[in-house]
Amino acid sequence: MATVPRTVRFAARTAHMRASTIREMLKVTLQPDVISFGGGLPAPELFPTEAIAQCTREIMEEYGARALQYTVTDGIPEMREWVAQRLTRRLGTPFDAHQIIIVNGSQQGLDLIAKILVDPGDHIVLENPSYLGAIHAFDAYQARYLAVDTDEDGIVPESLEHVLAHAEPPPKFVYLVANFQNPTGRTLSRDRRERIVRICEHFGVPIVEDDPYGELRFEGEDLPALVSYPTSGTVIYSGTGSKILAPGMRVAWLAVRDPEVHEKLVLAKQGADLQSGTLTQYLFARVVARAQDFEQHVKTIRRVYHERRDVMYDALTEDMPETVSFNRPQGGMFLWARARGVDTTDLLQVSAKDGVVFVPGVSFYPHCDVTDGMRLNFSNASPEKIREGIGRLAKAVKEMSS
Ligand SMILES: Cc1ncc(COP(=O)(O)O)c(C=O)c1O
Repeated sequence: MATVPRTVRFAARTAHMRASTIREMLKVTLQPDVISFGGGLPAPELFPTEAIAQCTREIMEEYGARALQYTVTDGIPEMREWVAQRLTRRLGTPFDAHQIIIVNGSQQGLDLIAKILVDPGDHIVLENPSYLGAIHAFDAYQARYLAVDTDEDGIVPESLEHVLAHAEPPPKFVYLVANFQNPTGRTLSRDRRERIVRICEHFGVPIVEDDPYGELRFEGEDLPALVSYPTSGTVIYSGTGSKILAPGMRVAWLAVRDPEVHEKLVLAKQGADLQSGTLTQYLFARVVARAQDFEQHVKTIRRVYHERRDVMYDALTEDMPETVSFNRPQGGMFLWARARGVDTTDLLQVSAKDGVVFVPGVSFYPHCDVTDGMRLNFSNASPEKIREGIGRLAKAVKEMSS
């Protein structure tokens, strides 16, 4: 019998797409008794549902059809204006509304950046380990990765210098998360920040500074953003409403000073989705315009995450065997642990049976070559669940080590 030729012929780029361990794991967490330190989920009880309900009604009454119509690709003026002002104030460097592009989650921003900069086989420089979602976004453009060493103070300048000096072809950009990094919770130290900017300037390599957690600092002082250092180089700054308001709104932003890069990004977005949702932009702009309430809301998030970080850190200190080391991030949503001698992908199998999940570190390493890391999210579970979950996890570690 003649075989029917297969009609679906996938693009080469799909061979580079990997299933996200995190998304897969989120399915497990839907089971009722499972405690999850896995997803990067904000605390849902803090979402300002009442304010959002009121603002939705106000928008419908005030704007009606306008809020439901198509709008411009780079975002409604109210949103871009708010972002420009907030960045100017927070980062201490001036931004103008015309430099802002509203995107559908900062994940879309990463996709668009790769879309305009990366040809198949191009190099991107990443922290080792790095944000998995960025690796996924870049994989689709058939990027290759150059991994730079990191330590407790973030990316190591000497390692970056070495990588850039030897890269052939030269990388298209350096991607990094300077504040409370995902997955490690680490923050790039003050004295390294300017050095990183100068090194990239020297080698003529743009920086993509992804900053979803900068506003979630609960200890210590804010450090200057890389984009705030005057440079002849290019820095693309990415921010998001996901961690300070609600990720389901998918409202995020890119701040881009280079007009050519800005224009290409807008064109790329036009091709991708024409625009981000008009209604959610109006809604976001309206919620944040209640400035006092919004600042109070962000403060509450910081306070609650601070408390949860403490609970998780104390529980780890009490319960974990000596073979497990972990840090104490000053903000953000993640704590990073290493379980000496344990492959944490295997550990996850054991711990899931005991009703607790986390993300094994291996997938955050661009070359998948370190297997003892664990990313532990502390923002989503209640303090009681955190204590209980760490207890279960410690039991699983001891079981595996015995
Ligand atoms: C470092 C980093 N970048 C980007 C994102 C994507 O965020 P969103 O698309 O919700 O803005 C996340 C989400 O966890 C993240 O941790």
